[in-house]
Amino acid sequence: MIGRLNHVAIATPDLASAVAQYRDALGAQVSEPQALPEHGVTVVFVELPNTKVELLEPLGEGSPIAAFLERQPAGGMHHVCYEVSDIRAAAAQLEAAGARVLGDGEPKIGAHGKPVLFLHPKDMGGVLTELEEV
Ligand code: CO
Repeated sequence: MIGRLNHVAIATPDLASAVAQYRDALGAQVSEPQALPEHGVTVVFVELPNTKVELLEPLGEGSPIAAFLERQPAGGMHHVCYEVSDIRAAAAQLEAAGARVLGDGEPKIGAHGKPVLFLHPKDMGGVLTELEEV
């Protein structure tokens, strides 16, 4: 069921300095920042040969990463995202195995315009896990 690692998402309180680190110190290709108000984040995509890193900075009130940054003010790894071919079938299989799907259980359109779901970190070895249908 599980496919490619689509991205690793890293929350940061300072997107500009995170971008500078990936672009200048690591020599990575980085996108322009994209404001995603419906997701409460501004995101920069770091293109790597085999996957992506997404740098996330809170945007607006009630950002889903605000509480994370309160616990980890310097930032840190927020979630990983795996590709699946059928997101509803994948969610059903994981729920049958005891993992909880966050929210109302319905896939939402994510930052790449594809359906996504999140699984509760307590059921996934402490890692917030995103599934993206590709
Ligand atoms: Co993600």
